[in-house]
Amino acid sequence: MDLHVRARGSGDAGTLLFLHGFPFHGAIWEPQMADLPPGWRGIAPDLRGFGRSPLGAAELPSGRRMGAGVALPDEAVLTMDALAADAAELIERHAAGPAVVCGMSMGGYVAFALWRRRPELIRALILMDTRPGPDGDEARENRRRLATTARESGATPVATAMLPSLLSTHTRERNPDVAETVREIMEATAPRTLVAALAGMAARADSTPDLPAIDVPTLVIVGAEDGITPPEQARAMADAIPGARLEVVEGAGHLPGLEDPPAVNWVISDFLETL
Ligand code: MLT
Repeated sequence: MDLHVRARGSGDAGTLLFLHGFPFHGAIWEPQMADLPPGWRGIAPDLRGFGRSPLGAAELPSGRRMGAGVALPDEAVLTMDALAADAAELIERHAAGPAVVCGMSMGGYVAFALWRRRPELIRALILMDTRPGPDGDEARENRRRLATTARESGATPVATAMLPSLLSTHTRERNPDVAETVREIMEATAPRTLVAALAGMAARADSTPDLPAIDVPTLVIVGAEDGITPPEQARAMADAIPGARLEVVEGAGHLPGLEDPPAVNWVISDFLETL
């Protein structure tokens, strides 16, 4: 799959693969890509269907039983496994060995799927504002509603519905530019991708049973005001992964990498130094 990829840095020290959340694209990692620790190479793709990367519908599973009832029978379903297969290809193509995989929210779901499929490609994990558990009934119902909105009215109302829960009060008051950037990124997502990814997330596997077996260094990062994947969930996830380190970013919501780049970049760089 030919994905649009941003790549920076030499890679002598290692490669960091950044996996964005929903419904964003690789540009959300710009503050991290601009401040990579010396020697590190950063790879920030637009995941399949997002940003400038094609969805490649022909290869995607579709049908009535897929997507937990979120997709219609003739619509594509973007599974976390399909995204993980793309991530594996990226590591094989762009890194000299296993990579540090940094997954934000949906990108974290992809990181878990990659861990199940190809653990040998993962040198360390950074799990940012994500959760291991699957969707419950209410979350699936919300996804069905959001998919209907995307299908009928496109990305703008989806962005409008999501935006208030993404950023902390602090960010919204002190840094309104971040909200604009996030809105622009979300509005660039094709409705077909929105539906396909909502369906794929609704149908994703439970990664909770995998946590105790994760045996690579793991850093869990969460915004203190993240209402989507709250700090209590991040703490429980870090507790279940042997030796995992938890960092709570004060004053940030669901997107700490954009809301407080210096704090997040420092934590990442400090973690990488321990590898
Ligand atoms: C994300 O940021 O990727 C989403 O909040 C994930 C989700 O909808 O479960």
